[in-house]
Amino acid sequence: MRVLRLHVNGDCAEVAAPEHWTLLEVLRYKLGLTGSKQGCDKGDCGACTVLIDGVPTLACLSLAATVEGKQITTIEGLVPAHRAAGGEGVDPVQNAFDKTGALQCGFCQPGMILSAKALLAKNPNPSLKEIQESLAGNLCRCTGYTQIYEAVVLAAKGDLA
Ligand code: FES
Ligand code: FES
Repeated sequence: MRVLRLHVNGDCAEVAAPEHWTLLEVLRYKLGLTGSKQGCDKGDCGACTVLIDGVPTLACLSLAATVEGKQITTIEGLVPAHRAAGGEGVDPVQNAFDKTGALQCGFCQPGMILSAKALLAKNPNPSLKEIQESLAGNLCRCTGYTQIYEAVVLAAKGDLA
């Protein structure tokens, strides 16, 4: 066991976990943050994507001990961060996914939304090709990707009233 000090969604968490545990295991089984999904658990699906210092990262391939001191954002952190910044309701990217009906089972959505957040943070007006490339590591097995891409376009436009 090792005591980890993690910065998750703006809070500091101190948690004891086995040395070999991944960030995904610590998030889900120690911190109760189950929004990050355990899909393939081997780097193929993107369902476990979180942001580490703003960069989309596969939590299933990241040892928790290697991300101490870094800022970790999970899907649970988006609404609090949005409201702390003075916003109302849900995060605009989440809102756009809702408005475009960009989901069926929803299992892939946390990873998709976090990848989209990272893209829009560095490129507020991405082309369709840039959106497709940014989400290429996030697999969805139950929708076409059309509405997912539309959601990112809508979020970029900011026309979410
Ligand atoms: S669960 Fe991490 S890539 Fe599939
Ligand atoms: S909505 Fe089901 S996997 Fe994407």
